Amino acid sequence: MNSQFPEAVGCPIQWAKCWDRRTDGIGYLPGIIRRLDYLSSLNVTALWLSPIYPSPMRDFGYDVADYTAIHPWFGTLDDFDRLLDAVHVRGLRLILDLVPNHTSDEHPWFVASRSSRDHPKRPWYIWRDPAPDGGPPNNWLSFFGGPAWTYDERTGQYYLHQFTRQQPELNYRHPEVLEAMLGAMRFWLERGVDGFRVDVVWLLMKDRDFRDEPLNPQWDGLKPHGRLQHIYTANLPETHDVVRTMRAVIDGYGDRLMVGEAYLPNPDLMRYYGRFLDECHLPMNFQLISSEWRAREVRRRVDAYEAALPPGAWPNWVLGNHDQPRLASRVGPEQGRVAAMLLLTLRGTPTWYYVDELGMQDVPIPVGQMKDPQALNQPEIADRMSRDPTRTPMPWDASPYGGFTGADAEPWLPLAEDYPTRNVEAQSRDGRSPLALFRALTALRQRTPALMIGDYRVPATPVPDDIFAYLRMLGEARILVVLNFGAGLHRLDFSAAARCGELLLCTGLDRFEPPDLRALVIRPNEGVIIRLAPGG
Ligand code: GLC
Repeated sequence: MNSQFPEAVGCPIQWAKCWDRRTDGIGYLPGIIRRLDYLSSLNVTALWLSPIYPSPMRDFGYDVADYTAIHPWFGTLDDFDRLLDAVHVRGLRLILDLVPNHTSDEHPWFVASRSSRDHPKRPWYIWRDPAPDGGPPNNWLSFFGGPAWTYDERTGQYYLHQFTRQQPELNYRHPEVLEAMLGAMRFWLERGVDGFRVDVVWLLMKDRDFRDEPLNPQWDGLKPHGRLQHIYTANLPETHDVVRTMRAVIDGYGDRLMVGEAYLPNPDLMRYYGRFLDECHLPMNFQLISSEWRAREVRRRVDAYEAALPPGAWPNWVLGNHDQPRLASRVGPEQGRVAAMLLLTLRGTPTWYYVDELGMQDVPIPVGQMKDPQALNQPEIADRMSRDPTRTPMPWDASPYGGFTGADAEPWLPLAEDYPTRNVEAQSRDGRSPLALFRALTALRQRTPALMIGDYRVPATPVPDDIFAYLRMLGEARILVVLNFGAGLHRLDFSAAARCGELLLCTGLDRFEPPDLRALVIRPNEGVIIRLAPGG
């Protein structure tokens, strides 16, 4: 059944810039094929690729110029078909990034729309007359700085874009637009892709009356875009009709997955499951990225998310992506291991971002080498806005450029300085490396039904502020997870939960003794997973 599908997905991984190309430092599809064994060795079950369509790359592929082709940088449609076969042969699934909210300004649809006010494709995009003073039609802002409107000299109107001005927004109030996007989806579904991660799904509809947005009284002063409350550009009720229609197309192809990117608070996010679970299988849950990294706060968020889920909805957790600072930079290398254990033992599909399994930190990119338009468009706060540090090449080994490219081809972004020691090859040889922990966690999850699909419950045992402890339960099976978010050692009494248990894994990969549940020792920054003996 479709609604059960995401449970079977296990752990998708987002692979952005991790495949190698020997000539130009960018990465391409045949490079991914060569590295698929690595993915299998991670025990992940699905692979999500950032956009691979033809694009002028103003926003690294999120400015699509053709929805049904492959950018020549990345290869050909034949390469894509070979990749899809190779993925399926390994029992993995492939998820594409669908970018329906906006196109590139070089997409033929926009070129036509821009050509004259009378062109039939004019209403495919969002065009408005200037304000009486000649300025933008209203106060809407771009996520990447400045107004969300750009004036088109030739036709005397402004068009809407909430990202770069080379990313004009499609008008989903025009029925042909949705039809065209559904056509693109069918193209890939027919080729056999296993689903889509739908970009900025919560932005698809805008206010029909183009009203000014009010000031945001809670603005923290950090991102200029946060100055307004986005009540007319985001999360409009009509969005759900579009999402439902997309889901219906996906369902027509059997077990395919629809993941939606939506940065929203719980009650709003839950609506993207659909009233009849007929929208996204997985509206992405970014709680772990935005949370302050303290046991109490993380527990509060997990409990609140669990409580908010509609009946029958399958949860999901995301720990990193190409828009956020890296996990190890956000929480520190030691807590990075605790975070991995948390993600892979919570109830719901975990999503992982490439290279986080090596514990790699953000790579500082000097202003002169920055590529991200979010930074380049806002030079005064470029350091804070740049997403480049999180997008650097995968370090495979200690060879020049980490084996991502040949020695003669400089990669598109620099590698982390520590790549000669922090790389896949070195960590594969080290039985206690972050990579070894990731593999152990995913393997344990895959072979432990209680971790895959068991219920989540917090035991009655009181714990110190730094500890987050929970159970995953399925039938008689009970797994206890205890995570120490702090730097102190704790002795905890879980004897009320069970008389004895078996230590399945600890974050240091260095403990094997039977746990004493009356005085369970949890070391600083440590997490443990224990199978409790049946009974109570
Ligand atoms: C999403 C993508 C981000 C991109 C933006 C515009 O948030 O994750 O990388 O810049 O959409 O498409």
